[in-house]
Amino acid sequence: MFSGLSPQPADGLLRLIVLHRDDPRPGKIDLGVGIYRDDDGATPVLKAVKAAEHILLETQESKSYLGADGDVGFVQLLEPIIFGAEMAGSSRLGGVQTPGGTGALRLAAELVAQSRPGARIWTGTPTWPNHAPIFAGAGLEILTHPFFDAETQRIEFGAMMNALESAEPGDVVLVHGSSHNPTGAELDEGQAEALAELCARRGLVPLIDLAYQGLGRGLEEDAGLARRLLAACDEALLAYSCDKNFGLYRERVGALWVQGQTADATQIARDNMLVVARGIWSMPPDHGAAIVRVILERPELVALWHAELDEMRDRISRLREKLAESHPLFAGAARQTGMFALLPFSPEAVTELREMHGIYMAGNGRINIAGLTEENIERFVEAAAPLLRVYA
Ligand SMILES: Cc1ncc(COP(=O)(O)O)c(C=O)c1O
Repeated sequence: MFSGLSPQPADGLLRLIVLHRDDPRPGKIDLGVGIYRDDDGATPVLKAVKAAEHILLETQESKSYLGADGDVGFVQLLEPIIFGAEMAGSSRLGGVQTPGGTGALRLAAELVAQSRPGARIWTGTPTWPNHAPIFAGAGLEILTHPFFDAETQRIEFGAMMNALESAEPGDVVLVHGSSHNPTGAELDEGQAEALAELCARRGLVPLIDLAYQGLGRGLEEDAGLARRLLAACDEALLAYSCDKNFGLYRERVGALWVQGQTADATQIARDNMLVVARGIWSMPPDHGAAIVRVILERPELVALWHAELDEMRDRISRLREKLAESHPLFAGAARQTGMFALLPFSPEAVTELREMHGIYMAGNGRINIAGLTEENIERFVEAAAPLLRVYA
């Protein structure tokens, strides 16, 4: 049975975790894995999450099955945060809970594949490396358009729009809602408007991947692009993750929404999502979504969550500013948002930084800004700046 399988390389980031763990040097710096870290390099459970877990422990009376749509209250309570008060609860929005943002993206891809045999999806270059296997796994054809040039630290907007002008009606366009992974680059107002206009004019279907709401500019601000695209286009999908903005990573908390042309079309699409979900994971895991629901049901826990989210975002912004000020070569960091930056390091430079300086980052030169601290940032700049390839 299994002799036909070919050996697979170890996952790059997981390999980095092991290398970093086994590195005895005291000043080592971990900018690899994409999780939030505080000044001590820790990723603590949020206080709001702990409080919600206490409440669940005291009050949850059953672990019996929910349904394929998961925790319906969780989905409803997220709607005003993501879509805004006006759109929340609309009959043209159909949402279901999923195992993380990854599950939401996979479910979206499966729904598209079922709706339209031979469906195609456009992704920017670069994008989160998991996008391609998720979409290909569902049988979608993947097309790419330019998005970001690491050497100039600029979005290649003209080239991106040119490529998308050649998209066919019904093609899906993947759009990072905020805090782009791996680049941190964001469309400005005019660019967002132009993209929405193009999608609407050419009948393209946006699939918005919103995995970092609140960690970029703010909860409202980070939803702006998604809302603009949903307003402009008849049909759209939105894959959401609570794993970063609630610090729930391993609990696998996410949701997928479809926006249909009419209430009936939305209902049918949502019913199909449930059928697909039943065939993959049957039901999403409950605990993380229940935590988010318990928080969002209680104003005092919402306030606590907001404060903790603000603290995470402010820390990232401070580090971005500091990095940008520390050297002209890092000036792009101040324009970008969220945890990531993509720096023009050659693979050899990435290896040299790791081996000579104990600085760990992804092989493509992506750094997790949250892995920097007020203390180690200077050492990072001193070691890294001479190794950057070409500069804006
Ligand atoms: C752009 C992007 N989308 C989706 C995800 C998936 O998030 P989750 O951990 O909730 O599956 C990630 C996680 O790193 C991401 O960076």
